[in-house]
Formats: sequence, C-alpha cells, structure tokens
Amino acid sequence: MIILDGKSVSQKILQEVREIVSKSDKKPHLAVILVGEDSASKIYVKNKQKAAWQAGIRSTVIELPESVEEEELLDKIKELNDRVDVTGIMVQLPLPEHIDKFKVIEAISPMKDVDGFTPENTGKLAIGMEPYFYPATPQGVLMLLDEYKIPIEGKNVVIIGRSNIVGKPMAQMFLKRNATVTVCHSHTKDLDDKIKTADILVSAVGKKIVRCKMVKKNSVVVDVGIYRDSDGKLTGDVDFDYVSKSVGYISPVPGGVGPMTIASLMYNASKVY
Ligand code: GUN
Repeated sequence: MIILDGKSVSQKILQEVREIVSKSDKKPHLAVILVGEDSASKIYVKNKQKAAWQAGIRSTVIELPESVEEEELLDKIKELNDRVDVTGIMVQLPLPEHIDKFKVIEAISPMKDVDGFTPENTGKLAIGMEPYFYPATPQGVLMLLDEYKIPIEGKNVVIIGRSNIVGKPMAQMFLKRNATVTVCHSHTKDLDDKIKTADILVSAVGKKIVRCKMVKKNSVVVDVGIYRDSDGKLTGDVDFDYVSKSVGYISPVPGGVGPMTIASLMYNASKVY
C-alpha cells in the first residue's frame, strides 16, 4: 500500500508555481471575498493566504459582514472584475442564506474565476471545451494521481457525492481522461456493489462511509471528506486503518486532498488572462 502524500506533493507544486510566477512579468493578484463569521471558512481563507504567500502570489482578503446586502456583494465583484491589477477572484462558500450564491458566482468574470465555478467555465468543461480554470479540488485530485503515475484511461472510477464543487466536475474531468465514471449519492441503490467495481474510488461526502469490505483489492482510494469526529479529531470518509490494508494507494486525512486543493488553487491563481 502506498500513501498518496498530498502534503509533500502540494509543497512541490507550490514551489513550481513560485518559479512560474517569479519568471513571469504579469503579476498575479488573488482577491478572496469572505462573508460573515463561519469559522471553517476563516481557516480555509487563512490557509489560502499562507499558500499564496509561499507561491509568491499577492493576495487580498475582503471581509464583509454576515448582514451584507446581496447588491453590495455583487457591486464588490463588479469592481474586482474591472480592476486590472486583480487577476483572480474567489468568493468563499458557503454564503449567508439571504444571498443567492448562483447570482454571486455568475457575477464573477470567467477569466478571473480561479475556482472554476462560473456557468461559462463549468459549461465549457461539460462540453469538452477548455475552461479558463478547472475547479481546484478535482484538479488537485488529478495532480495527485498523476504525480504517482496512476493510470486513468479505461479505469472504472466511482465518485461518491454529486456536489458542484467536487462530485460533478470530478466526473467531467475523469471522463475527459477516458475513464468510465459512476457518480453515487444519497439516493443510490446498492452503493456497496457500485463501490466494489471501482479501480479508483473518490469519496466526497463528509461522513464515514467507506469501510473495509467495500473496496476492491489493490484499488486507489481518494478521500475528499474532511470533518471533525465526536472527539474533535480531523477525519475523512474512509475508515483508513482497515481500508489501507487491502488497497494499492490511499490518500490520508489530513495530509491528502486538503493541501492539494490549495496548491491547485494557487496554480489557478498564477494564471493571468
Ligand atoms: N468552500 C468549500 N470549498 C470551497 C472552494 O473550493 N471554493 C470556495 N470558494 N469555497 C469553498
């Protein structure tokens, strides 16, 4: 069994991004909008700032109060779209309930949409055109698999979770790489049977769902889930201690997909259109 070491691969990517940025005369500048007081979001944003600094990318965090009007947030995005010194924009999700997240995402210029969430970028991905940006988490997963030279073409890939941030774009990106893709979710029947078919299993659910007997021997298991268990310990969707005994490759939590997502976002942020 080989551990997919996202922590060290992400450091390598950040270093590569740093070199690209230092050699380019177009200087990237990432603007991150953080609305409200969500504690997890605050930590994510801090980590993104730290990674930007490591990668030599200028970053600015714009903090808006929980009570901010949707119109004010949309105006802020318009202002950032128009600013020539800002090359990337991301709005940390989730947003407060009174704000329509789709309106917010749609307001971001596709050429500055480093999250790859706008309809133009997701649509391009879906029809096989080249988007300006691929979403950070699925792109980070593929960077990790590629680093370990894990073949994808013709493989059976099972994804658990159908979110716009992970499951759906992950499926599109595996299809683009000629895998056979099954997307499972909360209404999927016979989940265990589907999981058993996976040469590559990607779980993005947020609860302990992948147990030992479910996985195929020598398969690749990528754990995108991250949450705190009842003891307050950071953990993922996969029962690591047992599953790791039978698989070929497995990503740990923490130290797997989490740091890869941030490195992948910095790779996106280094692109200047
Ligand atoms: N919240 C959780 N993951 C993400 C992400 O990848 N991008 C943004 N903007 N918000 C998130």
